[in-house]
Amino acid sequence: MPDTLLIVDDEESICKNLGKYFRGKGFDILMASDGESAIELCQTKPVGLVLLDIGLPGMSGLDVLKRIKTTLPNVGVIMITAYGDAETAVRAMKMKADDYILKPIDMTGLGIMVNNVLETYRTQSEVSDIKQQVSTLDSSVRLKETYNMIKALAGAIEAKDPFTKGHSYRVSQLSVEIGKRLGFNDEELEILEYGALLHDIGKIGVKEVILNKPGRLSAKEYAHIQRHPVIGEDIVKPVEIFHPVLTLIRSHHEHFDGRGYPDGLKGEKINIFARIVSVPDSFDAMTSDRPYREALSVNEALSRIDEAKGTQFDPQIVDIFIGGAIKIYDRYIM
Ligand SMILES: [Fe+2]
Repeated sequence: MPDTLLIVDDEESICKNLGKYFRGKGFDILMASDGESAIELCQTKPVGLVLLDIGLPGMSGLDVLKRIKTTLPNVGVIMITAYGDAETAVRAMKMKADDYILKPIDMTGLGIMVNNVLETYRTQSEVSDIKQQVSTLDSSVRLKETYNMIKALAGAIEAKDPFTKGHSYRVSQLSVEIGKRLGFNDEELEILEYGALLHDIGKIGVKEVILNKPGRLSAKEYAHIQRHPVIGEDIVKPVEIFHPVLTLIRSHHEHFDGRGYPDGLKGEKINIFARIVSVPDSFDAMTSDRPYREALSVNEALSRIDEAKGTQFDPQIVDIFIGGAIKIYDRYIM
Protein backbone atom coordinates (compact mmCIF):
# COMPACT_ATOMS: atom_id res chain seq x y z
CA MET A 1 0.00 0.00 0.00
CA PRO A 2 1.41 3.42 -0.88
CA ASP A 3 2.21 5.77 1.98
CA THR A 4 -0.07 8.77 2.33
CA LEU A 5 1.51 12.22 2.50
CA LEU A 6 -0.44 15.22 3.69
CA ILE A 7 0.88 18.52 2.35
CA VAL A 8 -0.14 21.56 4.38
CA ASP A 9 0.70 24.97 2.95
CA ASP A 10 -1.32 28.10 2.29
CA GLU A 11 0.64 28.76 -0.90
CA GLU A 12 -1.14 26.83 -3.59
CA SER A 13 1.87 26.64 -5.88
CA ILE A 14 3.95 24.92 -3.19
CA CYS A 15 1.20 22.38 -2.54
CA LYS A 16 0.91 21.67 -6.24
CA ASN A 17 4.64 21.27 -6.82
CA LEU A 18 5.13 19.03 -3.81
CA GLY A 19 2.03 17.04 -4.71
CA LYS A 20 3.21 16.46 -8.25
CA TYR A 21 6.70 15.46 -7.16
CA PHE A 22 5.62 12.98 -4.51
CA ARG A 23 2.77 11.56 -6.57
CA GLY A 24 5.44 10.78 -9.15
CA LYS A 25 7.34 8.91 -6.43
CA GLY A 26 4.33 6.68 -5.81
CA PHE A 27 2.80 8.36 -2.76
CA ASP A 28 -0.90 9.00 -2.16
CA ILE A 29 -1.31 12.75 -1.72
CA LEU A 30 -3.66 14.80 0.43
CA MET A 31 -3.57 18.58 0.65
CA ALA A 32 -4.75 21.21 3.09
CA SER A 33 -4.30 24.97 3.22
CA ASP A 34 -4.96 25.50 6.91
CA GLY A 35 -4.33 23.82 10.25
CA GLU A 36 -7.88 22.82 11.15
CA SER A 37 -8.49 20.88 7.95
CA ALA A 38 -5.01 19.31 8.23
CA ILE A 39 -5.84 17.90 11.66
CA GLU A 40 -9.19 16.65 10.45
CA LEU A 41 -7.53 14.81 7.57
CA CYS A 42 -4.98 13.25 9.94
CA GLN A 43 -7.83 11.95 12.08
CA THR A 44 -9.89 10.53 9.25
CA LYS A 45 -7.36 9.31 6.66
CA PRO A 46 -4.38 6.95 6.93
CA VAL A 47 -1.79 9.74 6.90
CA GLY A 48 1.77 8.49 7.35
CA LEU A 49 3.58 11.80 7.14
CA VAL A 50 2.71 15.50 7.13
CA LEU A 51 4.72 18.13 5.29
CA LEU A 52 3.77 21.12 7.37
CA ASP A 53 4.38 24.77 6.64
CA ILE A 54 5.23 26.67 9.81
CA GLY A 55 3.74 29.97 8.67
CA LEU A 56 0.07 29.09 8.25
CA PRO A 57 -2.75 31.61 8.59
CA GLY A 58 -4.95 31.07 11.66
CA MET A 59 -3.79 28.07 13.64
CA SER A 60 0.02 28.15 13.32
CA GLY A 61 2.14 25.27 12.04
CA LEU A 62 3.57 24.80 15.53
CA ASP A 63 0.07 24.45 17.01
CA VAL A 64 -0.81 21.87 14.37
CA LEU A 65 2.42 20.03 15.15
CA LYS A 66 1.58 19.98 18.84
CA ARG A 67 -1.91 18.61 18.20
CA ILE A 68 -0.62 15.87 15.90
CA LYS A 69 2.17 14.82 18.22
CA THR A 70 -0.08 14.60 21.28
CA THR A 71 -2.98 12.78 19.64
CA LEU A 72 -1.41 10.83 16.75
CA PRO A 73 2.03 9.66 17.83
CA ASN A 74 2.52 7.44 14.77
CA VAL A 75 2.21 10.24 12.24
CA GLY A 76 5.53 11.75 11.12
CA VAL A 77 5.86 15.51 10.66
CA ILE A 78 8.42 17.42 8.59
CA MET A 79 8.26 21.20 9.01
CA ILE A 80 8.68 23.53 6.06
CA THR A 81 10.32 26.73 7.17
CA ALA A 82 10.87 30.08 5.49
CA TYR A 83 14.51 30.86 4.85
CA GLY A 84 16.01 32.72 7.82
CA ASP A 85 13.60 31.31 10.35
CA ALA A 86 15.94 28.75 11.87
CA GLU A 87 14.81 29.70 15.36
CA THR A 88 11.25 28.50 14.74
CA ALA A 89 12.64 25.34 13.19
CA VAL A 90 14.58 24.66 16.39
CA ARG A 91 11.40 25.20 18.40
CA ALA A 92 9.60 22.74 16.13
CA MET A 93 12.32 20.12 16.66
CA LYS A 94 11.95 20.58 20.43
CA MET A 95 8.25 19.93 19.96
CA LYS A 96 9.10 16.55 18.41
CA ALA A 97 8.93 17.42 14.71
CA ASP A 98 10.76 14.62 12.90
CA ASP A 99 12.77 16.99 10.71
CA TYR A 100 12.57 20.33 8.94
CA ILE A 101 13.49 21.76 5.56
CA LEU A 102 14.08 25.36 4.51
CA LYS A 103 12.41 27.13 1.58
CA PRO A 104 13.17 27.17 -1.31
CA ILE A 105 12.70 23.41 -1.07
CA ASP A 106 15.36 21.08 -2.42
CA MET A 107 13.12 18.27 -3.70
CA THR A 108 15.75 15.54 -3.75
CA GLY A 109 16.77 16.37 -0.19
CA LEU A 110 13.16 16.38 0.93
CA GLY A 111 12.52 13.07 -0.83
CA ILE A 112 15.33 11.41 1.12
CA MET A 113 14.08 13.00 4.33
CA VAL A 114 10.54 11.73 3.75
CA ASN A 115 11.70 8.14 3.16
CA ASN A 116 13.90 8.29 6.21
CA VAL A 117 11.17 9.50 8.53
CA LEU A 118 8.67 6.97 7.16
CA GLU A 119 11.14 4.15 7.62
CA THR A 120 11.80 5.20 11.21
CA TYR A 121 8.07 4.90 11.95
CA ARG A 122 7.82 1.61 10.05
CA THR A 123 10.70 0.17 12.06
CA GLN A 124 9.18 1.35 15.33
CA SER A 125 5.88 -0.25 14.49
CA GLU A 126 7.62 -3.52 13.56
CA VAL A 127 9.30 -3.52 16.96
CA SER A 128 6.02 -2.91 18.76
CA ASP A 129 4.25 -5.60 16.71
CA ILE A 130 6.86 -8.12 17.67
CA LYS A 131 6.76 -7.02 21.32
CA GLN A 132 3.03 -7.53 21.18
CA GLN A 133 3.47 -11.08 19.85
CA VAL A 134 6.14 -11.87 22.41
CA SER A 135 3.95 -10.61 25.23
CA THR A 136 1.25 -13.15 24.40
CA LEU A 137 3.57 -16.01 25.32
CA ASP A 138 2.74 -17.99 28.37
CA SER A 139 5.41 -17.35 30.97
CA SER A 140 5.24 -20.81 32.49
CA VAL A 141 6.50 -22.69 29.43
CA ARG A 142 10.14 -23.43 28.72
CA LEU A 143 12.24 -22.14 25.85
CA LYS A 144 12.02 -25.40 23.99
CA GLU A 145 8.23 -25.34 24.00
CA THR A 146 8.16 -21.95 22.34
CA TYR A 147 10.35 -23.27 19.54
CA ASN A 148 7.90 -22.42 16.78
CA MET A 149 7.50 -18.92 18.06
CA ILE A 150 11.27 -18.53 18.24
CA LYS A 151 11.64 -19.86 14.72
CA ALA A 152 9.05 -17.38 13.51
CA LEU A 153 10.91 -14.57 15.26
CA ALA A 154 14.22 -15.67 13.74
CA GLY A 155 12.45 -15.80 10.36
CA ALA A 156 11.26 -12.23 10.85
CA ILE A 157 14.84 -11.02 11.16
CA GLU A 158 15.90 -12.86 8.05
CA ALA A 159 12.97 -11.52 6.07
CA LYS A 160 14.26 -8.06 6.75
CA ASP A 161 17.87 -8.89 6.04
CA PRO A 162 17.78 -11.50 3.24
CA PHE A 163 21.56 -11.75 3.15
CA THR A 164 21.41 -13.56 6.46
CA LYS A 165 19.18 -16.41 5.29
CA GLY A 166 19.76 -19.43 7.51
CA HIS A 167 22.33 -17.47 9.50
CA SER A 168 20.66 -17.72 12.92
CA TYR A 169 20.07 -21.44 12.44
CA ARG A 170 23.70 -22.19 11.51
CA VAL A 171 25.01 -20.03 14.35
CA SER A 172 22.69 -21.88 16.70
CA GLN A 173 23.83 -25.33 15.60
CA LEU A 174 27.53 -24.41 15.70
CA SER A 175 27.13 -22.82 19.13
CA VAL A 176 25.57 -26.01 20.46
CA GLU A 177 28.57 -27.99 19.13
CA ILE A 178 30.89 -25.69 21.06
CA GLY A 179 28.70 -26.01 24.15
CA LYS A 180 28.83 -29.82 23.96
CA ARG A 181 32.60 -29.71 23.83
CA LEU A 182 32.59 -27.48 26.91
CA GLY A 183 30.56 -30.12 28.75
CA PHE A 184 27.37 -28.07 29.01
CA ASN A 185 24.26 -29.78 30.38
CA ASP A 186 20.94 -29.97 28.52
CA GLU A 187 19.57 -26.82 30.03
CA GLU A 188 22.68 -24.84 29.08
CA LEU A 189 22.64 -26.27 25.57
CA GLU A 190 19.03 -25.20 25.28
CA ILE A 191 19.92 -21.62 26.25
CA LEU A 192 22.64 -21.64 23.61
CA GLU A 193 20.45 -23.13 20.93
CA TYR A 194 17.48 -20.79 21.35
CA GLY A 195 19.50 -17.78 22.42
CA ALA A 196 21.60 -18.08 19.26
CA LEU A 197 18.44 -18.31 17.14
CA LEU A 198 17.33 -15.04 18.69
CA HIS A 199 20.65 -13.24 18.99
CA ASP A 200 19.92 -10.73 16.20
CA ILE A 201 16.23 -10.24 16.96
CA GLY A 202 16.97 -6.56 17.62
CA LYS A 203 17.71 -6.10 13.92
CA ILE A 204 13.96 -5.77 13.54
CA GLY A 205 14.53 -2.33 15.03
CA VAL A 206 17.22 -1.41 12.48
CA LYS A 207 16.23 0.41 9.31
CA GLU A 208 16.23 -1.82 6.25
CA VAL A 209 18.06 0.72 4.10
CA ILE A 210 20.94 0.56 6.55
CA LEU A 211 20.89 -3.24 6.97
CA ASN A 212 21.04 -3.73 3.21
CA LYS A 213 23.24 -0.81 2.29
CA PRO A 214 25.80 -1.84 -0.32
CA GLY A 215 28.44 0.76 0.50
CA ARG A 216 30.31 1.68 3.63
CA LEU A 217 28.22 2.83 6.57
CA SER A 218 28.53 6.34 7.94
CA ALA A 219 29.39 6.74 11.64
CA LYS A 220 25.74 7.56 12.35
CA GLU A 221 24.47 4.50 10.47
CA TYR A 222 26.97 2.28 12.23
CA ALA A 223 25.84 3.66 15.58
CA HIS A 224 22.24 2.86 14.56
CA ILE A 225 23.13 -0.77 13.77
CA GLN A 226 25.03 -1.06 17.03
CA ARG A 227 21.81 -0.55 18.94
CA HIS A 228 20.45 -3.95 17.85
CA PRO A 229 21.69 -5.98 20.86
CA VAL A 230 19.97 -3.59 23.27
CA ILE A 231 16.79 -3.42 21.16
CA GLY A 232 16.79 -7.23 21.06
CA GLU A 233 17.08 -7.51 24.82
CA ASP A 234 14.30 -4.98 25.18
CA ILE A 235 11.98 -6.92 22.84
CA VAL A 236 12.14 -10.22 24.70
CA LYS A 237 12.64 -8.92 28.24
CA PRO A 238 8.96 -8.71 29.22
CA VAL A 239 8.58 -12.50 28.94
CA GLU A 240 10.05 -14.66 31.64
CA ILE A 241 10.90 -17.68 29.46
CA PHE A 242 13.38 -15.51 27.58
CA HIS A 243 15.25 -14.37 30.68
CA PRO A 244 18.00 -17.02 30.37
CA VAL A 245 18.92 -15.66 26.90
CA LEU A 246 18.80 -11.93 27.66
CA THR A 247 22.50 -11.53 28.36
CA LEU A 248 23.45 -13.58 25.33
CA ILE A 249 21.40 -11.25 23.15
CA ARG A 250 22.75 -8.10 24.76
CA SER A 251 26.40 -9.17 24.77
CA HIS A 252 26.95 -11.03 21.50
CA HIS A 253 28.98 -8.12 20.07
CA GLU A 254 31.26 -7.65 23.07
CA HIS A 255 34.93 -8.29 22.38
CA PHE A 256 37.22 -10.28 24.65
CA ASP A 257 39.60 -7.29 24.87
CA GLY A 258 36.81 -4.93 25.95
CA ARG A 259 36.50 -3.12 22.63
CA GLY A 260 33.08 -4.40 21.66
CA TYR A 261 29.61 -3.01 22.27
CA PRO A 262 27.19 -2.14 23.88
CA ASP A 263 28.89 -2.27 27.29
CA GLY A 264 32.60 -2.66 26.48
CA LEU A 265 32.81 -5.70 28.78
CA LYS A 266 36.10 -7.57 28.95
CA GLY A 267 37.19 -11.22 29.16
CA GLU A 268 35.18 -13.42 31.47
CA LYS A 269 32.94 -10.51 32.44
CA ILE A 270 31.24 -11.27 29.13
CA ASN A 271 28.53 -13.88 29.49
CA ILE A 272 29.85 -17.30 28.39
CA PHE A 273 26.94 -17.93 26.03
CA ALA A 274 27.61 -14.59 24.32
CA ARG A 275 31.34 -15.40 24.03
CA ILE A 276 30.43 -18.67 22.35
CA VAL A 277 27.83 -17.30 19.93
CA SER A 278 30.09 -14.47 18.77
CA VAL A 279 32.55 -16.92 17.15
CA PRO A 280 30.19 -18.81 14.79
CA ASP A 281 28.26 -15.55 14.31
CA SER A 282 31.33 -13.84 12.85
CA PHE A 283 32.43 -16.95 10.98
CA ASP A 284 29.06 -17.39 9.31
CA ALA A 285 28.84 -13.69 8.44
CA MET A 286 32.29 -13.88 6.82
CA THR A 287 31.37 -16.93 4.76
CA SER A 288 28.11 -15.38 3.50
CA ASP A 289 27.72 -12.81 0.74
CA ARG A 290 26.94 -9.38 2.17
CA PRO A 291 25.60 -6.32 0.35
CA TYR A 292 29.05 -4.71 0.61
CA ARG A 293 31.32 -7.70 -0.14
CA GLU A 294 31.45 -11.28 -1.37
CA ALA A 295 31.80 -14.28 0.91
CA LEU A 296 35.22 -15.37 2.12
CA SER A 297 36.28 -18.98 1.75
CA VAL A 298 35.95 -21.18 4.83
CA ASN A 299 39.73 -21.34 5.24
CA GLU A 300 40.15 -17.61 4.92
CA ALA A 301 37.37 -17.02 7.46
CA LEU A 302 38.89 -19.51 9.88
CA SER A 303 42.27 -17.85 9.67
CA ARG A 304 40.67 -14.46 10.40
CA ILE A 305 38.91 -15.95 13.42
CA ASP A 306 42.24 -17.37 14.57
CA GLU A 307 43.89 -13.96 14.16
CA ALA A 308 41.25 -12.38 16.39
CA LYS A 309 41.89 -14.87 19.19
CA GLY A 310 42.26 -12.94 22.44
CA THR A 311 41.22 -9.63 20.87
CA GLN A 312 37.73 -10.15 19.53
CA PHE A 313 37.22 -13.71 20.74
CA ASP A 314 37.75 -15.86 23.79
CA PRO A 315 40.87 -17.95 22.87
CA GLN A 316 39.46 -21.14 24.38
CA ILE A 317 36.28 -20.88 22.32
CA VAL A 318 38.27 -20.23 19.14
CA ASP A 319 40.35 -23.36 19.75
CA ILE A 320 37.25 -25.46 20.29
CA PHE A 321 35.61 -23.98 17.23
CA ILE A 322 38.50 -24.41 14.84
CA GLY A 323 39.68 -27.68 16.36
CA GLY A 324 36.30 -29.43 16.45
CA ALA A 325 32.96 -27.71 16.20
CA ILE A 326 33.59 -26.44 12.68
CA LYS A 327 33.62 -30.03 11.40
CA ILE A 328 29.82 -30.06 11.46
CA TYR A 329 29.59 -26.91 9.37
CA ASP A 330 28.95 -28.58 6.01
CA ARG A 331 25.78 -30.10 7.37
CA TYR A 332 24.17 -26.73 7.94
CA ILE A 333 24.94 -24.88 4.76
CA MET A 334 21.58 -24.17 3.22
FE1 LIG B 1 24.37 -9.15 15.86
